[in-house]
Amino acid sequence: MPQSNGQLRVLKNLLPRHKRKNPPSLQDEIPFGRTQTDHMLVCDYIPQKGGWQTPEIIPYANFELSPDSVVFHYGQEVFEGMKAYRNAQGNGEILLFRPEQNARRFANSAVRLGMQPVPEELFLRCVQELVSVEQDWILPNPGSLYIRPTLIGMDTGVSYRASLAYRFFIIVSPAKNYYKRETGVSVFIEREHVRAVPGGCGEAKCGGNYAAALPALQRARAAGAEQVLWLDGLKRTYVEEVGAMNIMFVYDNVIRTPALTGSILPGITRSSIIQLARDLGYTMEETRLDISEVLQDIESGKLTEVFGCGTAAVISPVIELVDGNKRIEINGGAIGKVSMNLKKTLIDLQFGRGQDNHGWRLAVSAQ
Ligand SMILES: Cc1ncc(COP(=O)(O)O)c(C=O)c1O
Repeated sequence: MPQSNGQLRVLKNLLPRHKRKNPPSLQDEIPFGRTQTDHMLVCDYIPQKGGWQTPEIIPYANFELSPDSVVFHYGQEVFEGMKAYRNAQGNGEILLFRPEQNARRFANSAVRLGMQPVPEELFLRCVQELVSVEQDWILPNPGSLYIRPTLIGMDTGVSYRASLAYRFFIIVSPAKNYYKRETGVSVFIEREHVRAVPGGCGEAKCGGNYAAALPALQRARAAGAEQVLWLDGLKRTYVEEVGAMNIMFVYDNVIRTPALTGSILPGITRSSIIQLARDLGYTMEETRLDISEVLQDIESGKLTEVFGCGTAAVISPVIELVDGNKRIEINGGAIGKVSMNLKKTLIDLQFGRGQDNHGWRLAVSAQ
């Protein structure tokens, strides 16, 4: 790996100040993930040149890729989603939340797709350097900067094989709300398609999983719902996850979430909430959840709250399930207090307010 004085080197070819755009403010309308910043980071893996090349931060621009690149034909693409936060205490500090978990998941996803994994140390340095360069784009609390590291296979030729050369790149985008409404989401139970199967790549964060999920998302939208609730791939009986979130069910003081079976994305927010919920005194269960029991428990009032959790959406209360023509309201359509308690605890921690008992925050330091 490219090093100087024992440090990973990152080259910077930055735009002069007067050529940079004005970052938006919290008052602006900011649709999620649509605003490009001034720079991006690119780092190629080229076996003939000794592997990982020196990462470069350069002005945001299109790539030139051959139409027969492996990524276009055999889908060798994995990505991550993480955020940088501005410390809400007003000390200017920039915080990442458990970024080493993203580094590890990114590498695991790459290995599952037969790709060259980005070394975790390289990943972490690149994220920090780009966030530092683009720090004016970090919206203050409750906003943030969404970070999208991506890895693609770059070899050319349509013969079916794993690429040998890869491009690792990172783009960032100012983030405000993931959903237009902050009042809770409606979720469509998908009974036809499945997202993943045992032995498949459901636990990898690869673009292919998201492409295959699009028809169900279109069905959900047509039914007036925001997201899809996925059931297991074998029996279409057990709850797996929701769109780009993991899912949790609240039974008074007990919180249940589907156990990781290999077909669910192991969310970093999920694992953080499992820990925080226990810290707060809730009983947390990772288990198997039958959708028909879930529906009965909503009807009988035993199940009091449902929420999705993920980096982009943080904690998103689910206030309605849509099952075919039936609409099932949860908690009278109101946001529940357990969801709100956990959301506040998590957000406080991410924005530097709560005590960091688990060492999850990383203050960004760039070279
Ligand atoms: C399919 C899927 N499940 C769960 C999650 C939540 O994962 P995390 O909490 O790491 O963002 C995401 C978001 O990245 C996702 O895309």
